[in-house]
Amino acid sequence: MNTLNGKTALVTGASRGIGRAVARRLARDGARVAVHYGTNEQAAKETVAAIETAGGHAFAPQAQLGTPGDAERLWGRQTCR
Ligand SMILES: NC(=O)c1ccc[n+]([C@@H]2O[C@H](COP(=O)([O-])OP(=O)(O)OC[C@H]3O[C@@H](n4cnc5c(N)ncnc54)[C@H](OP(=O)(O)O)[C@@H]3O)[C@@H](O)[C@H]2O)c1
Repeated sequence: MNTLNGKTALVTGASRGIGRAVARRLARDGARVAVHYGTNEQAAKETVAAIETAGGHAFAPQAQLGTPGDAERLWGRQTCR
């Protein structure tokens, strides 16, 4: 099912673990997924690659959460590819 076609999903902490699984599921359902990460760019790239290999669309915005300006920084990267 592609119930999320035309939508973009932001998954915080999606480079690994539970966030990665959520990101992959949302992509399978048709969403373009923002695979957010804090420090581990390689892991985020692996999540993006797994989504793209499965035919989905994703990109990996970085933002260390819990620091001043974190939400603004993350939101500012939502249009990045
Ligand atoms: N795994 C379980 O069985 C389980 C069970 C119950 C509850 N939980 C809870 O569920 C949450 C996720 O668990 P998980 O196993 O999926 O965790 P995880 O594998 O450690 O993944 C954490 C994700 O969050 C990101 N992250 C963590 N701190 C960040 C920060 N300050 N700024 C930006 N990104 C940050 C990490 O990115 P970077 O690596 O790039 O920093 C990574 O993508 C945790 O709070 C955990 O305690 C987990």
